[in-house]
Amino acid sequence: MKYLIFGKGYIAHKFKDFLGEKAVISDVRIEDYSAILEELKKQQPDVVINCAGKTGKPNVDWCEDNKMETIFSNVVAPIILARACENLGIYMTHVGSGCVYEGDNEGNGYSENDEPNFDGSFYSRTKAWSEDMLKEFPVLQLRLRMPFDSEPGERNFITKITKYPKVISVPNSISVIEDFLKASVKLMGKRATGIFNMTNPGTIDHKEILDMYKEIVDPLYKYELFSVEEMERITKARRSNCGLSSKKLEDEGIKMRPIHEAIRDSLKRYKENLDRQRKV
Ligand SMILES: NC(=O)c1ccc[n+]([C@@H]2O[C@H](COP(=O)([O-])OP(=O)(O)OC[C@H]3O[C@@H](n4cnc5c(N)ncnc54)[C@H](OP(=O)(O)O)[C@@H]3O)[C@@H](O)[C@H]2O)c1
Repeated sequence: MKYLIFGKGYIAHKFKDFLGEKAVISDVRIEDYSAILEELKKQQPDVVINCAGKTGKPNVDWCEDNKMETIFSNVVAPIILARACENLGIYMTHVGSGCVYEGDNEGNGYSENDEPNFDGSFYSRTKAWSEDMLKEFPVLQLRLRMPFDSEPGERNFITKITKYPKVISVPNSISVIEDFLKASVKLMGKRATGIFNMTNPGTIDHKEILDMYKEIVDPLYKYELFSVEEMERITKARRSNCGLSSKKLEDEGIKMRPIHEAIRDSLKRYKENLDRQRKV
């Protein structure tokens, strides 16, 4: 099985590290239809994984000020890629986002059939638009959410939030990267299509995560909480906080670990990786 990955960022490299020799990361920009066709013919992949998109640097507020670029990469370009894959009969997977909801659907979590209800950021709106368009085609759409990673790094959720001076605490669905990658590749193996919530079952709030971080990684770490309203006074766009249902994935026979167990395990490995980095 050969995987061809588009986009050269954080998630693309996570897939590459997980898939190893079986995967190639392409240099091609996905707004360029002829370049994509040429690349697909050259690489002859069984599976295309679209990890290209504008996520905003340093954060999604960037998308509020760069709407044309955001819409081009998050909505137009995935359709161009889907067209090329359809023309050559190649199976396509697209990394979408769970940040299209707010709330937790009265404790049930939002399912893939629920209409997105969060439009507080331009980034989230583009993710909902592309999702809506791609669902017309036989594309697997993986709704990733707040990726939690055992390798320290500036894109890692835990590395990021432990550097913030103040943190909100709201229950959320989270994708623990290791579980996300395993489950995604299983879905690709089954040639699944349609939208899937790729989050670990259950929700967890920031306070619970930071308390675990204090216990497992750094007993001296201190944090200060503030309210969502206070945070919204300093950000340009609102942020999605939501609970998603993982039932559809489970119905496919694919299980991710419960969120508290997966985060605890991830933090233990985060600590080991941190200690290893400090020794080098
Ligand atoms: N990380 C998260 O928290 C998260 C959560 C949920 C969903 N997602 C989704 O997962 C996908 C990957 O995110 P990521 O975290 O890996 O983001 P990332 O680190 O910013 O990487 C995205 C990559 O896509 C490239 N790109 C943008 N437009 C492109 C185009 N038209 N053609 C080819 N490459 C293009 C970017 O390059 P340039 O910047 O040079 O254009 C960048 O290298 C995105 O669709 C994102 O919406 C991410």
